[in-house]
Amino acid sequence: MTKLNRILITGAAGSLGSVLREALPGSCNHLRVSDWNDLGAAADHEEAVQCDLADRDAVANLTKDVDMIVHMGGVPVEDKFDKILHSNLLGFYNLYEQARKNGVKRIIWGSSNHAIGFYPRTETIDASVRPKPDTLYGVSKVYGEGLAEFYFDKFGMETVSIRIGSCFPEPIDRRMMATWLSFRDLVQIVEKSLQAPQTRHLIIYGVSNNDQNLWDNRMASSIGYNPVDNAETFREKVEAATGEPDRHDPMFMYHGGAYARTDHFEGDG
Ligand SMILES: NC(=O)c1ccc[n+]([C@@H]2O[C@H](COP(=O)([O-])OP(=O)(O)OC[C@H]3O[C@@H](n4cnc5c(N)ncnc54)[C@H](O)[C@@H]3O)[C@@H](O)[C@H]2O)c1
Repeated sequence: MTKLNRILITGAAGSLGSVLREALPGSCNHLRVSDWNDLGAAADHEEAVQCDLADRDAVANLTKDVDMIVHMGGVPVEDKFDKILHSNLLGFYNLYEQARKNGVKRIIWGSSNHAIGFYPRTETIDASVRPKPDTLYGVSKVYGEGLAEFYFDKFGMETVSIRIGSCFPEPIDRRMMATWLSFRDLVQIVEKSLQAPQTRHLIIYGVSNNDQNLWDNRMASSIGYNPVDNAETFREKVEAATGEPDRHDPMFMYHGGAYARTDHFEGDG
């Protein structure tokens, strides 16, 4: 494996960013980790930078001398539009524009299944389908994929948009029997995305090798992703902990699950 010189991880104080912070030192000489929250002490191989992605000048410095970016920073759930605007739209734009100016080769980022969350579960879809976001959060992921497409077509800057399913230590509800991505497979899909000689703008699903499956993820094999974990290992535990599903509940009708019935956070009906 060829080592990159410097990788930047955004959202490195968050759940998935922390997993990748542990796993990626072998992929590069220098690991730059960033978040607007406290990052703790930097290890010898790390450069820790605390900043807000919506601060353009800070992001200009953050993206200097970086080969590739693993972008996990942002609002990870449905929320008020102002918060999504700040981190997922403005922050995302800053990252792309400053990365372009600094000559970054590729960005690998956490898009989401909520970009296609309003597809009914009766349909198996691949990553080429028209978006159907289920929330404002999902809309922000469609925006991100659109910006990534534009930055490749116009400037040749590459992206791997990983539509992550549910990335947790283990599946904890019945929907996750189909959407679970193990931490081990997360690390693999990110490493393969970093190592691929060419990706253009690739959209793939971040999901493990689950028996139950909503997504045709053949496009992920183009970078050699070969998931090893399967939610089936946890079926007994999940079924014992959760009730029989009501097939008419949006939770079980749509790819996005409960997000398809989430309150509209702008309130006031
Ligand atoms: N965990 C999952 O199952 C899952 C599923 C689908 C998509 N994703 C996506 O993966 C990414 C990481 O998810 P996570 O579960 O680790 O979320 P997380 O909330 O644990 O981590 C996100 C991090 O981003 C940081 N952040 C937010 N706004 C910022 C800003 N303006 N400037 C700097 N830092 C900022 C937060 O402080 C946090 O540490 C998110 O983009 C999320 O949408 C995650």
